[in-house]
Amino acid sequence: MPTLVVEDLHVNVEGKPILRGVDLELERGQVHALMGRNGSGKSTLALALAGHPNYQVTRGRALLDGVDLLALTPFHRARQGLFLAMQHPPEVEGVSLREFLRLACSERGQGFCEFHKHYPSAVAKLAMEGLDSRGLNVGFSGGEKKRSELLQLYLLRPKVALLDEPDSGVDVDALRLIAGAIRDLAQSGTAVLIITHYPRILDHVPPQSVFVLEDGRVAERGGYELAHRIAEEGFEEVLR
Ligand SMILES: Nc1ncnc2c1ncn2[C@@H]1O[C@H](COP(=O)(O)OP(=O)(O)OP(=O)(O)O)[C@@H](O)[C@H]1O
Ligand SMILES: [Mg+2]
Repeated sequence: MPTLVVEDLHVNVEGKPILRGVDLELERGQVHALMGRNGSGKSTLALALAGHPNYQVTRGRALLDGVDLLALTPFHRARQGLFLAMQHPPEVEGVSLREFLRLACSERGQGFCEFHKHYPSAVAKLAMEGLDSRGLNVGFSGGEKKRSELLQLYLLRPKVALLDEPDSGVDVDALRLIAGAIRDLAQSGTAVLIITHYPRILDHVPPQSVFVLEDGRVAERGGYELAHRIAEEGFEEVLR
């Protein structure tokens, strides 16, 4: 059974229907990709699943290992094992990235010593040395924010990771680091969804399935080759 099952999800934003019956499944230990034109609702799907209050679910279900996610607060969705790496990660003054991570891991039941055993290698893996003592994402460059999201994900090891454009604004070296962390996560059992516009990141982390969002629904599904077809031919041709 898939880890995350989304069925007939309808979502309104400011009273306007954006998602109109999304169905998708994310499997444990597999990488999936979600593509679609600008404004097709990819971030809306991720934010609605995470429980953002501006995104009203009007119909449908989302089950994480059989648990009804939509009945839970955002905090309890995260506790259940859902993680969202945002397209535009916010800056949070007053708490360092390192302290934020220590508290998050402790909330998940990880002791101080265990945290310090894994922490240095995770920071090195995402080249975040020197940035982790600064305020969470405060003044981080676009690519640094993406690596910061991945560091959180890498340490927290959620059951389901929704990654909203982890590759946007990221240089080639950082893309390799990010892709390596995503591969490790999937290998350790996380069900991963990469929202992206380009097959570049997928060349480093080949997805088992690719979904295309159009008109508020998953209009097309396929394998890795679908991402390349979209890059070469465009949405107009592929969704014809
Ligand atoms: N808070 C909001 N208020 C009004 N409209 C919104 C809001 N959030 C999203 N929308 C609208 O919902 C639609 C879907 O937006 P969304 O951000 O989900 O698209 P996306 O597929 O992630 O696009 P992109 O590829 O550009 O990131 C857009 O038309 C957008 O303008
Ligand atoms: Mg988006």
